Amino acid sequence: MTFDTPITIALSKGRIFKQSLPLLAYAGILPADDPETSRKLILDTNHAQVKLVIIRATDVPTYVQYGAADLGVAGKDVLLEHGGAGLYEPLDLQIARCRMMTAGFQDVVRKHGRLRVATKYVKSAKRYFAEKGQQVEIIKLYGSMELAPIVGLADLIVDLVESGNTLKANGLVPLEHIADISSRLIVNRASWKMKHDTVMRLMEAMRAAVAKNET
Ligand code: PRP
Repeated sequence: MTFDTPITIALSKGRIFKQSLPLLAYAGILPADDPETSRKLILDTNHAQVKLVIIRATDVPTYVQYGAADLGVAGKDVLLEHGGAGLYEPLDLQIARCRMMTAGFQDVVRKHGRLRVATKYVKSAKRYFAEKGQQVEIIKLYGSMELAPIVGLADLIVDLVESGNTLKANGLVPLEHIADISSRLIVNRASWKMKHDTVMRLMEAMRAAVAKNET
């Protein structure tokens, strides 16, 4: 694929970057640096016109929303919290797959008036319990949610579960399924219009890579 217009793609380090690499390679994009070893925040690629910005997963939708990046790869968990303003979400990349679940001790004992739920996924948790008609108190955390039930901060957590090993290692169990999560290609709305041809070709190449992975 050739790029006649500048394109910036926002990615987060770790799993999303690693699993996005083969999809980008299918579109002919190869990064010049490895973000795990480089301290650079903007990575060059084999195409002078294509740059990758390496940022925190929760910041990816914001960069794309404001057009600081034309495209990005973001987990559905992050997109549910962001709300999706200013961006399109045209393609499920089927990578970084896991489940958003409630978890806690096998026999959840309510230690407080209302059930306390610790999570970094406040919007998703609120929506889930509201739909169930269950009144809960949500406590916002930024990480290590598994600790909350152990130290009595919360009765339940809402977190991502992949293998279940983190819960198990902390004596907790997955309880209720909230949503299936995977990473999505997101596109800035203005870039979608102004850089339509390039964005479409890139998206179709990635779509083909996803389809190939599924077969
Ligand atoms: C996620 C999640 C759990 C863990 C689940 O954290 O928050 O802690 O993975 O995976 P498992 O079921 O395979 O054990 P992640 O490693 O993505 O880091 P984070 O806490 O920064 O989100």
